[in-house]
Amino acid sequence: MKTDNAVISENICIAADVFRMKLKTSIADEIKCGQFVNVSVPGYFLRRPISCAEASDGEMTLIYKIVGAGTKQMSLMKEGETVSLFGPLGNGFPMLDEDILLAGGGIGVPPLLYTARLYREKGREVTVVLGFNRKEDVILEDEFEALGCQVYTAVMDGTYGISGTVSDGLDACGCSDRTILACGPLPMLKAVSERFDKGYVSLEARMACGMGACMGCVVKDHDGSSYRVCSDGPVFEIGKVVL
Ligand SMILES: Cc1cc2nc3c(=O)[nH]c(=O)nc-3n(C[C@H](O)[C@H](O)[C@H](O)COP(=O)(O)OP(=O)(O)OC[C@H]3O[C@@H](n4cnc5c(N)ncnc54)[C@H](O)[C@@H]3O)c2cc1C
Ligand code: FES
Repeated sequence: MKTDNAVISENICIAADVFRMKLKTSIADEIKCGQFVNVSVPGYFLRRPISCAEASDGEMTLIYKIVGAGTKQMSLMKEGETVSLFGPLGNGFPMLDEDILLAGGGIGVPPLLYTARLYREKGREVTVVLGFNRKEDVILEDEFEALGCQVYTAVMDGTYGISGTVSDGLDACGCSDRTILACGPLPMLKAVSERFDKGYVSLEARMACGMGACMGCVVKDHDGSSYRVCSDGPVFEIGKVVL
């Protein structure tokens, strides 16, 4: 892991309160799917953890939602400005030699795009179940389809796609024999963990250092042992830690 002054090549709104930032950075050539970077936002001491949504040829994409002051500030940054990144951080999703099922909820969807591309490049079938609250929140559906993934999109308010949650999308896709890789809000990850024995979930936690030093992001396993989401995770095998 290292610090790099990345140059912003794009920072645009792609859905309600959701932005796509592309950055020229050497971290793009090292980062694995499911890993994240810590972004330094001018005026804020703590860096913000954001997952890698795509990476190739010295360019990395971050897709982030405005939820507070730091992400608001990120959305105001312009093409050509530099931003300090620290990474790659975390363990990332495993690259298994099998067809795969991906499940993403809301702003948990972006890291699955990079994951899907790498599995497709290995010649694997990839089925993707996406879940959002409203039609305006839907992101990356076209990008997954362009990769040749089978995509099932569920929207809670019934205005688009399958009516309901990611669980309803999982019912519709009929791939419950596959290993699942999931990222999204905790209730979604709990539902996935109750339903699948084989798979991995990517957790979110409030983070400070982001590199295993402060113990600010600890989760426990069923025996009470501690794991740091930032450095032992964010990806854990289903059943490993208590959700
Ligand atoms: C491993 C990981 C990957 C993530 N990937 C993405 C992503 O790809 N896209 C995206 O939109 N969001 C992602 N998040 C969540 C993102 O980090 C927070 O939304 C962001 O830090 C909020 O910052 P803020 O200043 O806007 O909000 P504020 O609430 O003002 O933040 C205050 C402080 O809390 C921390 N914080 C707040 N919410 C979170 C959170 N959910 N997780 C961790 N720290 C938080 C901030 O870093 C900051 O230090 C990820 C979080 C983690 C842990
Ligand atoms: S954020 Fe410091 S140990 Fe994880």
